[in-house]
Formats: sequence, structure tokens, C-alpha cells
Amino acid sequence: MTAPTRVQTPAVAHLVPLLEKLTLEQKAALVQGADFWTTVPLPHIGLRAMTLSDGPAGVRGPRWDEREPSLNLPSGSALAASWDEELAYRYGAAAASEARRKGVDVVLGPTINLHRSPLGGRHFECLSEDPELTAGLGAAYVRGMQDNGVGACPKHFVANDSETDRFTVDVQVDDRALRELYLAPFERAVDEAGAWTIMSAYNSVHGVTMTENDLLETPLNSEWGFDGVVISDWTAVRSLGSIPAAQDLAMPGPAPAWADLVDAVRDGRVDEADLDRKVLRLLLLAERVGALEGSDAAAPAPVDGPAFAREASIEGTVLLANDGVLPLDPGSLSRVAVIGHNAREARTQGGGSATVLPEKIVSPLDGIRAALADAQVTYEIGAVVQEGVAEIPLDQLVNPVTGEPGLRVGFFGADGAELFAEDRRATALVWFGGDAPIGASRTVVLETRYTPAESGEIQLGFAGANPGKLFVDGDLVLDDAPVLEGTDLGAAFLNPPSLTAAVRVEAGRAIAVRAEFTRAQGGPLDGALSVTLGIAPERTDPAALIARAVAAAEAAEVAVVVVGTNSKVESEGYDRENLDLPGHQDDLVRAVAATGTPTVVVVNAGSPVVLPWADEVSAVVQGYFGGQEFGAALADVLTGAAEPGGRLPTTWPAALSDVPVTEVVPTDGVLRYTEGIHIGSRAWLKADAAPAFPFGHGLGYTTWSWGAAQRVGDDVEVTLANTGDRPGKQVVQVYAERPDSTVERPVRWLVGYAVVRAEAGQTVTARIPLPTRRFAHWAEGAWRLESGEYTLRAGASVVDLPLDLAWQVQA
Ligand code: BGC
Repeated sequence: MTAPTRVQTPAVAHLVPLLEKLTLEQKAALVQGADFWTTVPLPHIGLRAMTLSDGPAGVRGPRWDEREPSLNLPSGSALAASWDEELAYRYGAAAASEARRKGVDVVLGPTINLHRSPLGGRHFECLSEDPELTAGLGAAYVRGMQDNGVGACPKHFVANDSETDRFTVDVQVDDRALRELYLAPFERAVDEAGAWTIMSAYNSVHGVTMTENDLLETPLNSEWGFDGVVISDWTAVRSLGSIPAAQDLAMPGPAPAWADLVDAVRDGRVDEADLDRKVLRLLLLAERVGALEGSDAAAPAPVDGPAFAREASIEGTVLLANDGVLPLDPGSLSRVAVIGHNAREARTQGGGSATVLPEKIVSPLDGIRAALADAQVTYEIGAVVQEGVAEIPLDQLVNPVTGEPGLRVGFFGADGAELFAEDRRATALVWFGGDAPIGASRTVVLETRYTPAESGEIQLGFAGANPGKLFVDGDLVLDDAPVLEGTDLGAAFLNPPSLTAAVRVEAGRAIAVRAEFTRAQGGPLDGALSVTLGIAPERTDPAALIARAVAAAEAAEVAVVVVGTNSKVESEGYDRENLDLPGHQDDLVRAVAATGTPTVVVVNAGSPVVLPWADEVSAVVQGYFGGQEFGAALADVLTGAAEPGGRLPTTWPAALSDVPVTEVVPTDGVLRYTEGIHIGSRAWLKADAAPAFPFGHGLGYTTWSWGAAQRVGDDVEVTLANTGDRPGKQVVQVYAERPDSTVERPVRWLVGYAVVRAEAGQTVTARIPLPTRRFAHWAEGAWRLESGEYTLRAGASVVDLPLDLAWQVQA
């Protein structure tokens, strides 16, 4: 073995004897995955395989399979809306407990890229537009997870803040914005929380793809002291150029780009010391997660998953506006109209790799019905939101082989012989690792008997990236190949286009449905398959749906309209084109509000959407993608059983044309962050523009009086009183200003925050640490501190700041 030449962390010195027991071939194998989700075991040194898995809002596990369900926590933007680091810690702990239950050692999250623009497609998965809030909550998540023995993998390092051309886009961002905004959450995840792994992104920064980028060495390793494993985003390793870069593990594996690694070491193209450094880090990770003989990882504390999911959703629900209609009084209501597609089929999470498969979901309609048990709760869809086929409910399907609810899936080789079969309980199926021999299969067949609940013509079909045939009672009704949009295989794979045929059905009469898909060999996702058998929404006249909703609202004392996005709007592999609610939902809300019945609108979206009717309704509640208990949490908030805990982690625009940063599409392969340090609320302040709802905004059901702010050492103490007649939560937000600064600065920037809770009439004090780094700026390659007086401003949002305090900072 050649001695490692690069800076080596002392944490691995004791692992050198193990490294010395490995052959070059074994070392080369260890730095690449064994398959989609696991690393290579090396039993002779006591190393078992380590399993990595997506979340981050729960943990899917190594199989994408409804038979092995997962806890579905609220998505990242909902978590950030809590502004609560203690909650984020428990969220990480809950995910760790899920990870261990599923045999997972490392969870691929949290996603700590920033909401640079509301058009970013994975906005729902990221936390906030603000680096300070993202850093604090991200670090708490990492600590909560790792204290429970499971590795976190903050991602995607770095500047992966939008999705368009994500594999190739070159982000040009100045050093100051990179350090102060985009790197800052990663710095805290490493420096403060000691992340055991980091995921390198697909994109380039300054012309170099992130798996080969110097940023992996500096600042990540050399400045922040990262001693963990840099895991590549899936297929992001492009060449052996990532060996001398601090890219440690290529996933999935074996990685084609590193196929030549052993020869490259032998003929001197690659330095073996670089390989050894990676191996030592992987051994350290194995020791941390308990994958190395003799090592022990902490066992996660037990968590009541559904109860925590409900609490987290409540804490992330933002009451944007309320004329007093909320909270509803369950005792005095007798007729309530619940309206909206998402009220019945809620989106509890965004799409793409973050998907987990919950055992059950509480929809807003279920939650409201349970909370208002004495009232008559009617339901109308009002407007269609779903695009493409939706899954067929399990209770309408019978597996023809077993007679149980569900379907039979058969896998057939090139010679037509059945290779494998399984009985499934869902019609949206993804094989991405797992037992089915996808790579060897040429045809995959789904069979079920479907008994419709209603008579009429339905749009029966499938979604997938593969050509398919659909038979109903033995007759071929559809034979087509989807046309894939764009080149992002991940997007095509995780959110494939739909094809349908009109089929007449009778209520209660079963039809035999058979779908056959053909697979070609090869490509980066060979071995993976995604197909959905389903029904597209009926093509009912939008005006007729709205008319029925209006009639329901007229007959009710209050209308609750749940509006939202669908899987074509918020997912992975593409960005949003606008901020509009899909379909005719704006018309629906206006029509319901015009009835004069008090109208509460609930928004079920992971990112800002434009609400042009906001002033015409009685209340607006932003529920985000609230996880599997979304409906129960929402009912708690609507009825006042719980305080709406959320405050906006991202500025909410009134119109796309008002948004300061909208460029997410690269020009000639380059995306320039020309706005520098001014994103989010900083950009709105700079433009002196007013959004619909500012950063940090959110109402509660009690009232507060802000007392005073004072300095105690390096902390600021803020005193406030609950002046209402019920207990409440408030988020104390502290911003800094430096109007006469010698350097360009935001008008005002977040430097600290804390959650306080107080009983009616109680006075509370929040103590918030303000390390001097919160006032520093990056210039000429270093953090600089401008000495002198800053103004601190404290209050309930970036523009509602009743308290101020002069704050001296000494360099
Ligand atoms: C995503 C990652 C994810 C990985 C594995 C990638 O396409 O960008 O966030 O962890 O796939 O599913």
C-alpha cells in the first residue's frame, strides 16, 4: 500500500490496519455501490453492506413497494415552516427510527438547497429561501438522525437549486453568494452537526461538474473538517477525474465511469493514495453506522410515527389570512361543504425520488369529517386537478390468481418464459432495486379484475416510459408508446406520461384488465422500471363541476375549499413554468366565495402558488404537503384544537411577474445567479416590492404584545406577552440591518429565531444566540467582520418588526 498523501483526518488512523488487508480490487469495489442502494460487503474484514435510502420526509427503504410501507412525514418546506429546531431534531430522529426498521444505514437527506426561485421544481423538498433558517433546521435534522445511529446525507452539494438540465447545467455564482447563501447550510451541517456523509450534485459550478469540483476539498474538507463520505448523486460520477477530487463513493454501482479504476491505479493514471483515502472514510462511516464488526451504532429511540407526523404537520401549517371565521366551532356547525380534488385525494408529499409509500393517508375530507362528527359534511370535487392516470383504489381490484385485493405482476424473459411473479396491492409500481429481475425481463404483465363503483365511460390506461398494450376482457383497447419529454430520464422514470382509452363500464360488473409492457435493454436506468395502471379524470364540463360546488356552498354554513398542485407541477427533473394553480381552481374559489358563504381556502402545495382571490375569501391556510396525517392536522388547526404553528419560510408572491428571481433555465448551458446575495426576502426588500405574504408571516389564534429586546453577552433576549385568551405559539425573528455599511448588504437579513409558547396572559422571554459570524461577509477569500453598530430588529415577520436594538460588533 502507498501511504496516503492527502490531508487525512485523524479519525481514521485506527482503520489503517483494515485498509492494509484489502486488495486493490477490493478497494476499487468498495468505493462504488454494489447495486442501486447498497455498498459492497467485505466479510474478511468484518464489513457488511451498508444500505442507503431516499427520504428525506420519511425513509422509503431499499424497495419501492407498498407492501413495505413507510411513515410519510410533511415535506421539507412544511418542516421549515415550523421554524422549530427542536422539531427538526425530532423529525431527524423519527426518520432514523424508520431507517433502522427498514435496515437503512444512511438516509439521503435533508435536502438543503435553497428556494432561490419559487419556480424550482424540488422546492417542496428543500427547506427555505433563507440560508440561516435552512442551516439551523438542516443541522438539527442531521443531529436528530445521527444521535440515533443513522447517517444523514445533506444534499445536493452545491447550487442545485433548480432542475432544468440538472445533469449538465453550469451554475455561475459569485464567491460571496456561494459562501453566504448556498454553502452556508452545508457548512453548518458539517461544522455544527458533524454530518457523516454529503451528496455531491449533478450540476457544475464554474465549469466543473460537482463530482470533480474543488469545492469538495475546499471548503468542505480542508476548511470545515469534513471527515465523512461524499456520496455522488445517482449516476453523477462522470469520469476518473472524480478520483483525485474528494468524491468518495460512486452511486449506484458498479459505476461505469469508474469501471477502469483498477487498471488506472496500476498504470499510474490514478494515485492509489486517493483511493485509500476514500476507503478509510467508508470504513469510518461503517463504524459509525455499526456496519463494521465490533462497532455499535446508537439504537433509535422509539417514536410514535403517526402522532409525530400529525404534530409536525400542525407546526408547519401557516394561517395566511383570517377575518375571524377560524377557528371553526364544531359545536355550533351543522352543515359544512368540503370542496376540491385535493380535499379527497390530497398530496401529502412531492414527487420524484423523495416519494415514500405510506400505509394510509388521512385526507382533508376524512380529517374534517372526523373532527365535525355532529355536522353534515358534504363533498364536491369542484375542479379537476389530477393530470394523467391515477391509481385504481385497492378495494375495487381482485388479483385473478390469489382472489385477494390487488394484482398479479409477471416478468417474462426474451424466450417468453416467466422469470418471476409477485402479488401487489397498488397500481402505481416502481422497481428500483428489489427482487424482481427487471434487467432480464423483456415483458412485464399486470393482471387484475376491476369492479367499478359507477357506470359510465372511463379513461383507462397506463403511465410509463415503456411501450404498452392494454386488454379489457381479452380485447386490445390500447397499444401505444409514450413520447418522453425532455432528456431527464429521472423525470421520465418517476413521473412518466399517460396513455388512455375510453372504456364503458357498469357499476358492480368486474372487467378483466391486462397490461403488457415491453422493455429494451441498456441505458443508465437498466434494472429499473416504473408503470402505473390507472384511470384519468373524467372529462366533465368545468362549469358543471363549479356549479355543483356552488350549490353545496350555498347549502352550507361554511365552505372549506382545498386547492393544490398535482404531480406534474411539483416533482423532480423539471421546474415549474408558472405559479398558477392547475385547472379551473381559481374560478372555483371565486365562485364559491361569491355565494356569500364564509369560505376557508386550504392550499395543498409544497411551494408558493398565486392566489388571485385571496382578498375575496374569509381565510387562507397554507397546508403544504403535510404528510400522511395531513387531514387530521388540518382539522386540528381549522377547529382550533391546535394553534396553526407555521410561519412562511419563503416569500409568497402575488404574481409571477413580481418575483425578483425567476431565471431557472440555463442559456447555452449556463445558469447565472446574477442576483448575487439578494434572493428571497432580501430581493423583495431590495426591489422595494411587496409580496402577497412576506417571509416569516403567519397568524395564530391569540394576540401578542412585544415587550423589549436586550443584549445578554452574545445573545439577544426578546420578551413578549400573550395578550389573548388562549395559549399560543409565536416565532420570534431577529433581523440585522447595517444601512451605512461599507459593503453591499441585504437591506435586512435574518440572524436568529426562536419558538416561544405561552399561556393566555403569560409573558415569555426568548434567548437567541447571535454569534458574530451572523454579521460577517465573505470578501477576498475570507470571512470579514465590519466592526461597529448594527441595528437588530425583532418581531413576527421580515416586515413586522416592533422592537429594535443597537448591536455592537467588534472584529
Ligand atoms: C436525486 C437524489 C436522490 C437519488 C437517489 C437522484 O435523482 O437527485 O436526491 O437521492 O436520485 O434516488
